[in-house]
Amino acid sequence: MNRIPVMAGNWKMNTTPDEGVRLANGLKEKLAGIDDVEIIVAPPFTHLFQVKEAIGSSNIRLSSQDMSPEDSGAYTGEISPVMIKALGCQYVIIGHSERRQLFGETDALVNKKVIAALKHGITPILCIGETSAERESKETLHVILTQLKGGLNGLDADIWKDIIIAYEPIWAIGTGKTATDEQAQEVHQFIRKTLEDLFGEVIAGKTRILYGGSVKSDNIAGLMVQPDIDGALVGGASLSVESFEKIIKFNRS
Ligand code: PGA
Repeated sequence: MNRIPVMAGNWKMNTTPDEGVRLANGLKEKLAGIDDVEIIVAPPFTHLFQVKEAIGSSNIRLSSQDMSPEDSGAYTGEISPVMIKALGCQYVIIGHSERRQLFGETDALVNKKVIAALKHGITPILCIGETSAERESKETLHVILTQLKGGLNGLDADIWKDIIIAYEPIWAIGTGKTATDEQAQEVHQFIRKTLEDLFGEVIAGKTRILYGGSVKSDNIAGLMVQPDIDGALVGGASLSVESFEKIIKFNRS
């Protein structure tokens, strides 16, 4: 199955609007003409509009880092799928481990958000991953299964649209400790097998599964040759034009 690789930059709570626009303009210039990688940036909500204006109709696509599961209403501080869609977001990161760990997001809430994104035609990037304690006690695959089933609860093959899964071991995020290629592949293969059990071979075969956690220009190539790794969700290294460009061009000389 030929899956188009996805490289997504999660800027987290970094950049001012001006810095974000500079980063977007730099990427637009350096990445012009690349049409065999789906390139995504996820700036903070505050400058989605400016970044969308900067990237224009280039090959860079826009994602938000989160969203409410509700369309509108009395939810002070929340941002709805309708709003991010109107700003040009084609993707939304859902259930990032920082949302789960720091803001108490549960699989049930994550699931509501996935369903809301699909309802609005926004592609969810559903994040799952284990802590280091869970890995040490050999619970990794159990945790992955629970988060995957929880996040995709209620979906079936008929309403499945494009959903991207991001495997991000929590112990590898922002720590400089990447999973080895083999550790990542083992979990990616398990995710694909689980998707096959839940939704069938066709959906499992076409779903892009990204790796995230200290991805850098010097470890991306080894990850990308793994058969079930279809791209990366990149935090720190997506904040500079040079390093994100190198990651996206990992297979070009
Ligand atoms: P990192 O973050 O690349 O800085 O480890 C990845 C992520 O949290 O998506």
